[in-house]
Amino acid sequence: MPDAKTLLILDVDTGIDDALGLLYACAAPQATILGVSTVAGNVDLTRATRNTRAVLALAGRPEIPVWPGCARPIMREPEDASEIHGGSGLGNAILPEPAVAANAGNAIDEIVAAAKAHAGEIVLIATGPLTNVAVALMREPELPKLLKRLVLMGGAFKEGGNTTPAAEFNIWHDPEAARIVFQSFGGEGSAPLVAVGLDVTRQTLLLPEHLRDLARRCEGAAHAPALLQFLQDSTRHYFERVEKREGRRYFVMHDPLAIAAAIDPTLIDTAAVAVDVETTGTLANGMTLADWRGVWRRKPNAQVAVGVRAERMIEDFIAAMERLARR
Ligand code: BDR
Ligand code: CA
Repeated sequence: MPDAKTLLILDVDTGIDDALGLLYACAAPQATILGVSTVAGNVDLTRATRNTRAVLALAGRPEIPVWPGCARPIMREPEDASEIHGGSGLGNAILPEPAVAANAGNAIDEIVAAAKAHAGEIVLIATGPLTNVAVALMREPELPKLLKRLVLMGGAFKEGGNTTPAAEFNIWHDPEAARIVFQSFGGEGSAPLVAVGLDVTRQTLLLPEHLRDLARRCEGAAHAPALLQFLQDSTRHYFERVEKREGRRYFVMHDPLAIAAAIDPTLIDTAAVAVDVETTGTLANGMTLADWRGVWRRKPNAQVAVGVRAERMIEDFIAAMERLARR
């Protein structure tokens, strides 16, 4: 069962799957979104912020505050993922230019202030590189005790990476930040850190027939044309790329799964394990090492997703999109 009422802050680098995750969160009746912070990753910070505002407007939620955060990793040069998400970050989708809020707060200030104002209540969901979260932890080391849960999309714990053979993109983009984040959790009084990695996201696939089914279900709904156009245009670039490589079309729901599992933890199974991040390797930078055999003899600092109810997640996603179309 989903949590009764969940206060959310999302930290995103809005590419395509972040966008789908944002739409899902906007449609979740049991979620209250306090704000969305942005970080450089899939696209630069300006793009990520603009895309986020545009997607919230598409969802009919332009009032949700968007807080720009870090424009670059802690120690490295930023490298975007435009090959996967397209130059704009949203595939072939074109959204109207969103209104810019006059006094958008800064991500770090806002995350820390909200965590103090709602101690023990906020689920922070990170679906981009962990730069903002790490800087917030450096600013406020008590953050792990102030949150209800940190749920992040990142890592590859039993299988290989998607950016290098060892590393998943979000962790690889800013491994120093990821290391700070993992090392900050697991102590006395710490909220759980839930890591939703490639092990489960790669099993959670949106297919062209799901979008066709959605189009049938939303016929005549007021917001269906704009929403369907966005879903089709944003995923086309990715579908075509995967088809060229593998001969079939699918879209991996990395970020939507992390967001859905943050709202409804029963979508995934997790295992408690000690996790650390490689930051000084020559071949394995950004690799998430999970000590499954306990050879480090460290206390577990993460709940790593090891199983997923993927079919249910996709059904929930399609139902959420139908609600958005009919709002
Ligand atoms: C992650 O990398 C990004 O490109 C996606 O938005 C997702 O957060 C998957 O490895
Ligand atoms: Ca992302």
